[in-house]
Amino acid sequence: MPPRPGIAGRLAEITGDEHVLDDPDTAASFCTDWTGRFVGATPAVVRPGDVAEVAAVLSVCGESGVAVVPQGGNTGLVGGSVPLHGEVVLSLRRLAGVDEVDRLAAQMTVGAGASLADVQRAAAAADLSYPIDLTARDSATIGGTVATNAGGLHVLRYGTTRSQVLGVEAVLADGRVLRHLGGLVKDNTGYDLAGLLCGSEGTLAVVTAARLRLVPSLPERVTALLAFDTVGSAVQAAGALRDSVSSLVAIELFCGDGLELVCETTGAGPPFPVAYDAFLLVEGAAQVDPAAELSEATSGLEGVRAVAVAVDEPQRRRLWHYREAHTAAIERLGVPHKLDVALPMSNIADFLGVVGSRVLEVAPEATTIVFGHVADGNLHVNVVGVAPDDDRVDDAVLGLVVDRGGSISAEHGIGTAKRRWLHLSRSEAEIDSYRAIKRALDPEGILNPNVLIPPTTARDGTGRP
Ligand code: MLT
Ligand code: ZN
Repeated sequence: MPPRPGIAGRLAEITGDEHVLDDPDTAASFCTDWTGRFVGATPAVVRPGDVAEVAAVLSVCGESGVAVVPQGGNTGLVGGSVPLHGEVVLSLRRLAGVDEVDRLAAQMTVGAGASLADVQRAAAAADLSYPIDLTARDSATIGGTVATNAGGLHVLRYGTTRSQVLGVEAVLADGRVLRHLGGLVKDNTGYDLAGLLCGSEGTLAVVTAARLRLVPSLPERVTALLAFDTVGSAVQAAGALRDSVSSLVAIELFCGDGLELVCETTGAGPPFPVAYDAFLLVEGAAQVDPAAELSEATSGLEGVRAVAVAVDEPQRRRLWHYREAHTAAIERLGVPHKLDVALPMSNIADFLGVVGSRVLEVAPEATTIVFGHVADGNLHVNVVGVAPDDDRVDDAVLGLVVDRGGSISAEHGIGTAKRRWLHLSRSEAEIDSYRAIKRALDPEGILNPNVLIPPTTARDGTGRP
C-alpha cells in the first residue's frame, strides 16, 4: 500500500496501517452516536494498542493542530464521543486488558477499552463485584464510564463511577502520561486528579486505565415489580423503601405508557392483568436471602396496587426486561431527544405531571416517555417525533427542570447536546473555572474541544474554551 497522505499517514506510522480507518464507510459507525441524532465525519479513526501509542497519537495531533474525540464503546447519549467538527476519533477499544483481581485489596486495574461486562465477569470470578451496572454493559467501556462518571442502576447503594475509581492512568494533551494506579485507599497528597477526570468527557486527558474498587458479591437477590395508580404514590414508596430496606440495590421507576410500548415492541406479556400508571422495579441483594426484609417493607407500603416477585434468575430477567427494554423500544419510535435530568425527590411527581404538556406546547406531534432511577432523583425524559436538530423541546424541558430545582444532567453528561444550557446548572464563576482548568491542561484545545464547555468568542475570538 502506498503511504497515506495527511494525518491518517502520520497516525499509521504509530499504530500500523490496519489500525487507522480513513475510508468513510469503515469509519461510519465511529461517527454516529447510539441514538442516530448526532452524525459527523472524520479524517481518520485511530486505534492505538497501548498507552505509548496513545501518547504518540496525541503528540502528532497536537503538532498538526488536529482535534481528537476519544471514544470507547460509543454508547454515550449526549453526542460527546462522535466527531461533529471533523476531529480524529481516538478509539480506546484495543486497550482492553483486565489485570488479575487483587483479592486482598478488593481492587483491579483494567484498560480503558475493557467492557463493563468483562470487568463485572472478572470481579465475579474472584467472588467480588464491580458495582456499576447499566443496560449498555456489553458495549460500554471502562474508559467511557470513567470519562462520563457513569451512574446506572446501583447508584443508591454504591455511588457513581467516581466513587469506584481509586486512580487512573491518563495521557495529557502534550503526550505526557499521568499514572497513579497504586490503589491506596487513603492517599491525601493533593488534588484528586482521578476524581477530576471522572466526568471530564475527554476534555482534559485521555483515560487509558483505571484502578477500581470492588465490593462483596451479594449472591442472594430478590426483585419485585410494584404497581401504583399515581407517580406521586410511587415516589413516596421509593423514599420509604430507601429508608427501610438495608439490602436495597435498585429502585427504578417507569410509567404505564413506557410499559405498554415495551410490551408492544418486544412481544412481552404484561406483568399484571390490569393497567396502572406507575411502577417501581425494586431489587434487594444480600449475603443471606433478602426476600423477607423486602416483603415486609412492601406489605406496609401505602398505595401499592399489585406486586410481582421474582426470586430466580429467569423471573428476575423477565421483570428487569420491562425496565431495561425501554431504551431500545423508544428508539424504534424514531430518533429520540434524550434528556437525562435530576430533580429533588419532592418535585418528581409535579414535574412528571407537567412535562408532557410542556413538550406538546412546542412540539404538538411529539411523544414523551419518562423512566429513571427514582431513588437518585434521576429521570430520563425521552422525546420522539421531533427533528434531531430542533432543540425547542430540549429548551422547554431543561428550563422546567431548572425551575423545579433540578440539574440538566444527572448521569449522561453534557456532551454536545446540552452545552448551550450548561449555564442553567452552573454559575459563570463555575464555568470560568472549567475554562481555566481546560486551558491549563489542554492549552491548544485539541482534546474533545466541542463538548461540555460552551464556546466563547469574548476573549480571543477563536471560540476555544
Ligand atoms: C438507562 O438508565 O437505561 C440509561 O441511562 C439509558 C437511557 O437513558 O436510555
Ligand atoms: Zn440511566
